[in-house]
Amino acid sequence: MEDQERFVDQVVRVVDMASIKSVLDLGPKSINIAKEFEPKENLKFKVGYSHQAHGRFDLVILNMVLQWIPRHLLIPTLNQIDQCGATFVFIKDFRPQKFLSSVSVHNPNVRIFKQDYRQMFTTFPFFQVGWEEVEYATRGIDFIRSSFLIKRVSLDEAYEDRPSVVENQRGKKS
Ligand SMILES: C[S@@+](CC[C@H](N)C(=O)[O-])C[C@H]1O[C@@H](n2cnc3c(N)ncnc32)[C@H](O)[C@@H]1O
Repeated sequence: MEDQERFVDQVVRVVDMASIKSVLDLGPKSINIAKEFEPKENLKFKVGYSHQAHGRFDLVILNMVLQWIPRHLLIPTLNQIDQCGATFVFIKDFRPQKFLSSVSVHNPNVRIFKQDYRQMFTTFPFFQVGWEEVEYATRGIDFIRSSFLIKRVSLDEAYEDRPSVVENQRGKKS
């Protein structure tokens, strides 16, 4: 509960909670907890896979979710985040400087994956880290986590405009 409150606090700082329209989780149990926590009429709750999420959204929130996603569904999930047109992606997850895997404390049948998930986005210059907050930095690599906000920027902002190689060569000859 304490964790949940901290999370809500963090998101409220970056986004108006009233604007959240849809909640998706693979587990019906998680969806029921979410419904109890945020019983709003205009909020849609769906059971489903992240890589099959449909709709257009300005903001996508992945709170301690990427660590759970089976690795063969990680790239399809990134694709879906991109396809829904989100301007902002809020992520909270473990953030060690190594690639780690361990058994989940919530479910012994689940292997979770810890890595710096910012890298999934920042390899594309049109996704930029807008804000980040690190937690548990002094507790060691198994605990360190961070919350961050990815902002999608225009291609003009992302890429430096350069003359073509032909124009460059012409420039050199003259
Ligand atoms: C640690 S819990 C976090 C739950 C919730 N986001 C929160 O903040 O309390 C991880 C959740 O990810 C969900 N999950 C795992 N893989 C998923 C996937 N491929 N698509 C959607 N949800 C998934 C699990 O069902 C689980 O509820």
